[in-house]
Amino acid sequence: MGRFYVTTPIYYVNAQPHLGHAYTTIVGDALTRWHRLLGDDVHFLTGTDEHGLKIQQAADAAGKTPKEFADSIAPLFEAAWERLEIANDDFIRTTEARHYRAVETLLKACYDAGDIYLGKYSGLYCVGCEEYYVEDDLTNGTDCPIHKRPVQHFEEENYFFRLSAFEQRLLDWYAAHPGAIVPDFRGNEVLGFIKGGLRDFSISRTSLDWGIPIPWDPKHVTYVWFDALTNYLSAVGYGQDQQRFEDWWPVNYHMIGKDIIRFHCVYWPAMLMSAGLEPPKGWAVGGWLLVGGEKMSKTTGNVVNPLDLIDDIGLDGFRYYLLSDTPYGQDGDFTYEGLISRYNSDLANNLGNLLSRVATVVAKKCDGIGPAPAPNSPLAEAAAAAYAGTALAWDQVQPSRALESTWHLIRATNAYLEANEPWKAEPGPEVDRVMGDALEALRIVAVLASPAVPETSQTVWERIGLGGAVANERLPHSATWGGYPGGLNVVKGDPLFPRRQA
Ligand code: MSP
Repeated sequence: MGRFYVTTPIYYVNAQPHLGHAYTTIVGDALTRWHRLLGDDVHFLTGTDEHGLKIQQAADAAGKTPKEFADSIAPLFEAAWERLEIANDDFIRTTEARHYRAVETLLKACYDAGDIYLGKYSGLYCVGCEEYYVEDDLTNGTDCPIHKRPVQHFEEENYFFRLSAFEQRLLDWYAAHPGAIVPDFRGNEVLGFIKGGLRDFSISRTSLDWGIPIPWDPKHVTYVWFDALTNYLSAVGYGQDQQRFEDWWPVNYHMIGKDIIRFHCVYWPAMLMSAGLEPPKGWAVGGWLLVGGEKMSKTTGNVVNPLDLIDDIGLDGFRYYLLSDTPYGQDGDFTYEGLISRYNSDLANNLGNLLSRVATVVAKKCDGIGPAPAPNSPLAEAAAAAYAGTALAWDQVQPSRALESTWHLIRATNAYLEANEPWKAEPGPEVDRVMGDALEALRIVAVLASPAVPETSQTVWERIGLGGAVANERLPHSATWGGYPGGLNVVKGDPLFPRRQA
């Protein structure tokens, strides 16, 4: 038990929430729900990134001021997360006063440490990425490698952050904190960047006023990454409430996509070191969810709206698919067929079918009253293995493996029922024993699956007659064999997951 602080990236408000945003946010949500089950004091932060040229341009195009524009989009993210039942504890917007104060404090700390200096920048810039590129990075010598659009030539006086001074310190820090970046191969990528040599990066603009002024030279505004990354501090009191800040910092995990790994795993720890703050304890780096083999983006025009999918397949069907189908860290390909096929096989045929069988047999052979499990059930071992596997996987931020482990128990229970065929037997102690075991397995499944499919788990919980919220259960106690008391009303109800045609 302890404190567990997790963040998602803050999303740009130039686009509406899409499947890629939902993916990272749902993984963070499920991870934090798991930690709540462990009894941790959790703080889960998400929010929106509202400054910079990209937002200014989107606002211009919409005929609004940047603030008006941001005010029109940020609530769409809040509403989307509510629909997805994201249990965030806070939602930060970079236009809030608390964030301004934190950015100013961090800037001053790095400036006082001698790590911020004034210089001139001339280079090739991609507005989509809000990043300068060198010619070698470009596709066909002209285009941004991510947005596949020509970069622009910019020249201006900027403040720079002296990243080059942090090469060795970063390497030493990572050497002393193995496993801080999960999955491992993403950590190796970061070491590769650092060893490849670090260039100072620009942190201010004079050509723009949509941003936070540099406190000692207000004709400059802070540029996007210095501004955006600092949200993780602003939200827990940095520069404002020292006690609260010390309670939560360093963060346990920054959930991020691989596209922003360099900013989070190289720039950010260096900025923190400069200011005398601890680097994060961990980063969990996800791959891209591709649609038709391409990264989803407004520019590519292949954006999938998560809310449409929920209307179609249900919230938990959607969450389950995202969490189970792609090992976190790898790229995944979103397909509608894949969504339906996962839904049918794992949810309808496995979990849904198990609950429905159990409720039917209990109604017919046990007068609708769930019997207690046997202490020495053959399923007890499968349940212990499912718990151990699920816990280990969450510890490594691998939701797909966590669900696989939990689903082993569902499969083992279905197989146990098939081997014993209680539906063919006469009512009596033998049927009661088998059904008590199956109910106990379902109880444990409901607890273990609840971070991924909270609504479904609650329904299972109630159908087998248990009271209260499954989210209030505590591990490891609630996964220990024998918790189902017996003597409870078991309710048949509608199918949890009616089968779907592909
Ligand atoms: N505003 C910056 C992040 C600042 S964090 C201090 C930003 N925003 S973003 O809106 O472009 O999205 C960032 C994150 O959304 C990605 O890192 C990733 O986590 C998620 N995704 C956006 N598109 C995605 C996919 N197609 N697939 C998976 N995740 C994606 O960058």
